[in-house]
Amino acid sequence: MRDLRDPFIRFKDKTPEEMFKGVKTPFFAMDEKRLIENGKIIKGIQDRTGCKILLALKCFSNYDLFQTLSPFIAGTEASGLFEARLGKEELPNKEVHVFSGAYRDDEFDEILQYADHIVFNSINQLRKFGPKAKLLGKKIGVRINPEYSTQKGPDIYDPCSKKSRLGITIDSFEKEMNDELFSLLSGIHFHTLCQQNSDDLEKTLYVVNDKFGKYLRKLKWVNFGGGHHIVRSDYDINRLENCIKYAKDNWNTEVYLEPGEGIVLNAGYLVSKVLDTFKNHDDYIAISDSSAACHMPDVIEMPYLPPLYMADLDDCNIEYRIGGPTCLSGDVTGDYKFSKELNVGDYLIFGDMALYTTVKTNTFNGMPLPDIYILHSDDTLEKLTNFGYMDFKYRLGKTK
Ligand SMILES: Cc1ncc(COP(=O)(O)O)c(C=O)c1O
Repeated sequence: MRDLRDPFIRFKDKTPEEMFKGVKTPFFAMDEKRLIENGKIIKGIQDRTGCKILLALKCFSNYDLFQTLSPFIAGTEASGLFEARLGKEELPNKEVHVFSGAYRDDEFDEILQYADHIVFNSINQLRKFGPKAKLLGKKIGVRINPEYSTQKGPDIYDPCSKKSRLGITIDSFEKEMNDELFSLLSGIHFHTLCQQNSDDLEKTLYVVNDKFGKYLRKLKWVNFGGGHHIVRSDYDINRLENCIKYAKDNWNTEVYLEPGEGIVLNAGYLVSKVLDTFKNHDDYIAISDSSAACHMPDVIEMPYLPPLYMADLDDCNIEYRIGGPTCLSGDVTGDYKFSKELNVGDYLIFGDMALYTTVKTNTFNGMPLPDIYILHSDDTLEKLTNFGYMDFKYRLGKTK
């Protein structure tokens, strides 16, 4: 039996060729059905434990789908003014939580119009902005750095790495916090994980307890941040629920989580086509009309290999290097094996393309941005937005 969370299970009864025929590539298609399936898992955790789960907008901000997710989430998590505004505008009855590495004087008042929870990254920022936020009845937290790395990947995704600028270490907390500042707080936030399972969360919680437990017991909420790969098929939900229970029992706090990937995993496709094929000595090359650098930059930055429809199956033994048409040598999406040679015009459908894609696209090399669609549960495709030359030009200079 196929894993129900196979990134291409959606195409079991109807092929993507049938669903996407005639639509100009490249384009993103957000999978409404998968979002609902993921949402039900997220809702189940909240119902069983009483925790609250927020959608991290930095990961997924396609607001036309917020109503689809609305029954399953408690609110949104924003990284600053624009995301906070988007969360409030599009889901006005849900909580808006904001964390920023540092807030600006000229934005803070407006952020306060949208935020319910506001989290500061340093004692300086708490001292500067906390009293005003408190006066307006906001729930105030600080982000701590437990200094406990559980990640194996590069430091770029590890907020506990040496010289990290994210979160207050116990050393600074104890040196700089005083009763007056502490009285502004109602919670503590930490974010240390990236695409991880709940065993790493569990280990982190024990460290947080050792270092900050005595402070947490005096507060009302704790936020476990993001990086929990909750809807992944091997994710241990039971252990996550025990972690939530541990925090509630041990610290007597409300618990928040703010995953992005863990809500929208496998819920989107980047549909592209082959523009050219040729050989470099013995190696097959295919140029697609999508670009890793412009349309899925995390493929290069992270790096990771997105799943590709009908590639790397048991009967596939012809390997192609697939890359975009830009000038960047590293604009390579990956090496994939196919059962037959590729032809110009063949579909290349990348999976797991809802997360950190549309929020990160760019027009380097004058590459057009892919249009964005919803693939509805009944297999119909609805266009949300399209892009053209003006979207490239207006980012660069005077608008007429
Ligand atoms: C503070 C914070 N919260 C939540 C998230 C969401 O993480 P993810 O999409 O990996 O779940 C991030 C990601 O960087 C983050 O920095």
